[in-house]
Amino acid sequence: MHLINFKNLSSQQLMDIIDKAIEVKKNPEKYKAALEGKSLAMIFQKTSTRTRVAFEVAMTQLGGHALYIDWRTTNFTIADVYDETQYLSRNVDCIMARLLRNSDLQVMAKASRVPVINGCDEKYHPSQAIADLMTMKEKKGKLEGLKLVYIGIHNNVCNSLIEGCIKTGVRITTVTPIFNEPSRDDELLKSAEKSGLWETSLDVEEAVKDTDFVYTDTWVDMEFFTDPKFSAEKEKRLKIMMPYQVNKKLLEKSNAYIMHDMPIHRGYEISADVVESPRSIIYEQSENRLYSAKAILLKLLENSE
Ligand code: CP
Repeated sequence: MHLINFKNLSSQQLMDIIDKAIEVKKNPEKYKAALEGKSLAMIFQKTSTRTRVAFEVAMTQLGGHALYIDWRTTNFTIADVYDETQYLSRNVDCIMARLLRNSDLQVMAKASRVPVINGCDEKYHPSQAIADLMTMKEKKGKLEGLKLVYIGIHNNVCNSLIEGCIKTGVRITTVTPIFNEPSRDDELLKSAEKSGLWETSLDVEEAVKDTDFVYTDTWVDMEFFTDPKFSAEKEKRLKIMMPYQVNKKLLEKSNAYIMHDMPIHRGYEISADVVESPRSIIYEQSENRLYSAKAILLKLLENSE
């Protein structure tokens, strides 16, 4: 079983992972030898703070071992993804990969004899969404019937949030004036539409009324943030997106918890005072990446030889 997105997970399986994450957070001792002798290869084509740290610490605290592999230092750069993964999966028990292209991740999943976890590609960020749903459940004691508003670019994080919300009975409204085309997954959006739990709107003031959570994300993907070739697109995006900044004025009448998957760009998608406000659960949400990584690893590696 791989975790590329949530398409092959039932609602119950997803809810079980979320509940396991909450459980391992409460009882870390119980799991300290759960993955004894197991190795996780973590391969990165892009930068990361949380995903790398969370999965590496998760393996250590579960009694296993994680290897950080910078893609650029490997022979993945000069050979087939398929062949290199065939090898890799014969020496480790699990692979977590942050790749630029979902198509390469699909090749990796096909070639691998062990579970492959998507550490964020251009289409999905499932391990982030599990931490998000875990945080929401911790705050409210349930998921079904809650409401979340996502304000930002329609991107990989947005896709996984939509998928995760509709599988767990959370109503989600996306306010996304820009659609990041590489993230497009029409099948996912069609099934979200069918669920009746997803809607999209550009009326940001209306959307934040009566919502339990307001969620935002960067307007520029990590691989382009400091790329001079992307600067014109970055300027264009800032102009379009500034009226959609999550700030005090927008939240004047709101009691919603504030979420962000980080890294944060203060003064752009969110104002600094909102990051620091009492309703912000951003740092707890980031801490929960560790427990959700543990739950994912336990789910994928349980009963594996
Ligand atoms: N949210 C998230 O995935 O953080 P990193 O990019 O730092 O891993």
